[in-house]
Amino acid sequence: MTANQIAACTTILAGLVLSVAGVYYFQKRKKKDIVPCTWEEVGKITHLNLYPLKSGHRLELQRAECTEFGLKQTKEDEETLQMRDRGLVVYSEKDHEFRSGRTYPKMTLIDVSVHDENHLAIDAPTMRTLYVEIPTKNGQNQTKIKLHKNEEIPTIDCGNEAALWLSRYILGKDTGLRLGYHDASSRRDITKTHNIALDFYKDLSNSSTGLYADLASTNLINLASITDLSAKLNNCTITVNNFRPNFVVDGPNLKPYEEHDWHWVKIGDVILKNVKDCTRCIFTTVDPESGIRNANMEPFKTLGKYRLSDGPDNLPVMGINLEVIKQGLIFLGDKVSVARRK
Ligand SMILES: *[C@@H]1O[C@H](CO)[C@@H](O)[C@H](O)[C@H]1NC(C)=O
Ligand SMILES: *[C@@H]1O[C@H](CO)[C@@H](O)[C@H](O)[C@H]1NC(C)=O
Ligand SMILES: *[C@@H]1O[C@H](CO)[C@@H](O)[C@H](O)[C@H]1NC(C)=O
Repeated sequence: MTANQIAACTTILAGLVLSVAGVYYFQKRKKKDIVPCTWEEVGKITHLNLYPLKSGHRLELQRAECTEFGLKQTKEDEETLQMRDRGLVVYSEKDHEFRSGRTYPKMTLIDVSVHDENHLAIDAPTMRTLYVEIPTKNGQNQTKIKLHKNEEIPTIDCGNEAALWLSRYILGKDTGLRLGYHDASSRRDITKTHNIALDFYKDLSNSSTGLYADLASTNLINLASITDLSAKLNNCTITVNNFRPNFVVDGPNLKPYEEHDWHWVKIGDVILKNVKDCTRCIFTTVDPESGIRNANMEPFKTLGKYRLSDGPDNLPVMGINLEVIKQGLIFLGDKVSVARRK
């Protein structure tokens, strides 16, 4: 063979190897993403909750849109502005790090609603109602906040009056905290900050993320898991709301913790993929109705005795985080069907 022929052969060979690798990669990816065609009905949606403010109080809904970023109010319920799950965040003025109910349990008592076409109304015990002009990107105060692992996420600052109100309610001071708003115009990039989680949870990706949710856009809990945990607790009552899920499922034959083996979940026409166990922190010890932390670290302590994650966090697990694969409307009482992991 001449040198030219050898070069040509090498090129053809390299091309072949590349295309075989390409086809293999493509098939591997695709296989993972194929929505199943057989489903098993397991129960119904008994609670549909949206948390307008990260760490704030929940909004209990009859129906919601399930978008790529998680739950959103419907146009039928709120004509001018539809709030999204964890679309608002409290952050520190000094370093722009988010603040949560882990440090400030009374944040769980903050209620957010839509007041009129230009304002949100924010309420908390002992405080007068705060009316916050709904921020838009045009000419507004854009900045970045930091979530876990120093992940930076864009935010639109909601102004000085909101900052004063939050600082007074949460810190008892006139400064220190600010309010940020996400307009859902961008998707998070978790590839650098969450590389350890991405290595461990194979179905997790950028497209799993919510707005200011810790990571994923939605959270689901099987009520049987809460019943089982409750039975193990002494001297302490909890509800599913200690764990702040978006979807609660109940059904006559559900076994505790079986949701961890659901690979796919269908609610009405909406299709979701289980991307991760939901690991838990001491925030679960805060009673969501009183804003008071349990003195004995429950239910966190008991959960940690028998349900520790095998993932990188090594924390107690309750419920699952799901990515929205097919968007649509979800109603309270919708049937829930699943495809289990093989
Ligand atoms: C804009 O946001 C920053 C914090 O991100 C704050 O310090 C500043 O006071 C804000 N400006 C106005 C006009 O609200
Ligand atoms: C994640 O999202 C960012 C921003 O949208 C993008 O630049 C990056 O390529 C994405 N990474 C992956 C692996 O999809
Ligand atoms: C029950 O809980 C309270 C605080 O919530 C604590 O003071 C008390 O010692 C506990 N009792 C027992 C028997 O653990």
